[in-house]
Amino acid sequence: MRTSAERRELLKGVYEEARNCTRCPLHETRTTVVFGAGNADADLMFVGEAPGANEDRMGLPFVGQAGKLLDKLLAEIGLDRKDVWICNVLKCRPPQNRDPQPNEIEACQDYLWRQVDLIEPTVICTLGNFSTKLLRADPTGISRLHGREETRIIGPRAVRLYPLYHPAAALYTPSMLEALRADFHRIPELLAQGPPEQPRAPEPLPELDDMPDSEAMPGEHEFEPAAQLGLF
Ligand code: URA
Repeated sequence: MRTSAERRELLKGVYEEARNCTRCPLHETRTTVVFGAGNADADLMFVGEAPGANEDRMGLPFVGQAGKLLDKLLAEIGLDRKDVWICNVLKCRPPQNRDPQPNEIEACQDYLWRQVDLIEPTVICTLGNFSTKLLRADPTGISRLHGREETRIIGPRAVRLYPLYHPAAALYTPSMLEALRADFHRIPELLAQGPPEQPRAPEPLPELDDMPDSEAMPGEHEFEPAAQLGLF
């Protein structure tokens, strides 16, 4: 178990790496790397798509209209930004707010996995299609998945994944806003369930000397499948 101080130090290290990142062409057009913000010890994490113009200027996620809606929905369930961690699939703004490209997601995802690994959230709300598809490693769209929680293995841990409509989409579509609000209001119930059952830790491999010669078949002493389920 890491202490809060260790977690913050490690997260700062990832931030230091990200803030000078040149892993994809977006570094040429961004103003600021938007690493993520909030509580490093949060049980609840939100993952959006990519910074927009306001975020790019300020270096913080969800500071525009979509962010105001996110704040309002958080307040409705008795939370605010200091209770949660908010970040995006991409840490740099795509020009003209175009969709993230596969090469950009590929280059950037390591920062997200490291954030998940360090913060150890119990519940991850994916906001919209891009984060939902990435964290589920599956192309199913958000309109089929929103409001349906499922346990997923991300890195070494199981988390409660809870896809939601993106607040920017909900701003302009009243029916989506109602769905987002209804889904959002179930977050406290998911948090109250605590962490999902975790995959079994790998059994230590036996010393070579301990293996009976006749039974030491290749692969026989590999980890239990559940311990290897890290998707990424
Ligand atoms: N939309 C996002 O997906 N992320 C932000 O940070 C802002 C708007």
